[in-house]
Order: sequence, then C-alpha cells, then structure tokens
Amino acid sequence: MRPLIIAPSILSADFADLGADVAAMMAAGADWVHIDVMDGHFVPNISFGAPIIRAIRKVTPKPFDTHLMIAPADPFLKDFAEAGSDLISVHVEAGPHIHRTLQAIRALGRKAGVVLNPGTPAGAIGPVIDLVDLVLVMSVNPGFGGQSFIPSALGLVAEARAIIGDRPIDLEVDGGITPENAGAVIRAGANVLVAGSAAFRGGRSAFAANIAALRAAAEAAHG
Ligand code: DX5
Ligand code: ZN
Repeated sequence: MRPLIIAPSILSADFADLGADVAAMMAAGADWVHIDVMDGHFVPNISFGAPIIRAIRKVTPKPFDTHLMIAPADPFLKDFAEAGSDLISVHVEAGPHIHRTLQAIRALGRKAGVVLNPGTPAGAIGPVIDLVDLVLVMSVNPGFGGQSFIPSALGLVAEARAIIGDRPIDLEVDGGITPENAGAVIRAGANVLVAGSAAFRGGRSAFAANIAALRAAAEAAHG
C-alpha cells in the first residue's frame, strides 16, 4: 500500500489570513496542501489563481497538490508550475486532449494527475495511466467545499485502483471526506484524502484534532 496522505483543501481556509492558516495546518500534521483552482467556467465558482500559490509557497516546503478545475488548462500550466506546484491535476472532462496536457505537465518537470468527476467512467484514465503520478476521483461535483459525499464514487475508486494495479501511482479522493467515511474510501483503494471542511472546521485550535481524526479513521482501514 502506498503511504497514507492527508491533503487539506485551502478552499476552506481563512482567505483573510491565508498564509497563517496554511502554516498552522501544516504544523497540525497535514502532509500536502491541496489547492483548488476554479475558473467559473469549468465549474460554477471562481476561487484563485497562480499568484496565490506563489504567495503561499514560502510558507511551507510540503508538496503543493494543485487541482485545476479550469478549461482550457493548457495555457496556464506553466504559470501554475512556476508558481510552485509540485503536482498539477487536470480533469479528463476539461478538454479533448488530456493525453497531450499530461505530457505537457511532465515536460514542465512537475508530477501529473488526472481527475475524474463522479459521472465519468473510470475507464477514461486507462489510455493515460502511464502518463500520471496521481489519479484523483471526485466524490462531489466540483465547485464548492462543504458538499455531501457521493457514495457511488467508491465504485469509481475501486475501478481506478484496479486500473492502476501495482504502478507507483497515488489514488486521491476529494469532496465530502470526513472521519466517518474516510475508512470506506481507504478500503475502496485510496491512499490520499482531501478534506476542506473536515480539516478547517473549528478554526486553528481545532486543526490538529481534525487531522488526527481523519488520519486515525484512515489508518484503521489502511492495514
Ligand atoms: C471541490 C473541491 C474540493 C473541496 C473539498 O470542488 O475540489 O477539494 O474543496 O471540500 P470539502 O472537504 O469541504 O468537501
Ligand atoms: Zn480539489
């Protein structure tokens, strides 16, 4: 099994004091920073762009897991790479050339991730599985934090795990993750959990307990 990773989504952070929130969350035991970029076109919400990534890059050396919910993605890959992304994930649904996009991310020297929405067959990752370092399965329809987990995503996670096989690829799940469903997500085959609300709720004094609860629930199932 690949190592268990907890990746809080800064979409749920305090934007009025973002650097301090990121620092506190990393000090609270998070492994990666999950960065939700939204363009108001691919998803019905606008979040932030590369300048924000550049601004928080100095806060922590931990990996920046950039989730691009934008279409088209290709014109912006270089910006997000140079701003400090360690991994850049793009949705299969974002355009007709996912194979070329993933090649372009790797050509920039960054890890590449492919993302599936809850309505997309897992088989869509098959043709590009040897171009990625991560598969991200959405367990909500992308665009907002605080939504409810979509249980059918567990089937997609299991199918993606089967396609990945024993390749050194991380399997990440994103949306509505809580200590209550984390075990089922890990048992389905994931090793990376994204959490926005469940990580940031209660403010900085609650971060360590939030991360610990997610990690404990996941480890109990990780085996
Ligand atoms: C949704 C984002 C998720 C979201 C997770 O489009 O991709 O990362 O921020 O937030 P929660 O954990 O609150 O569902
Ligand atoms: Zn995300």
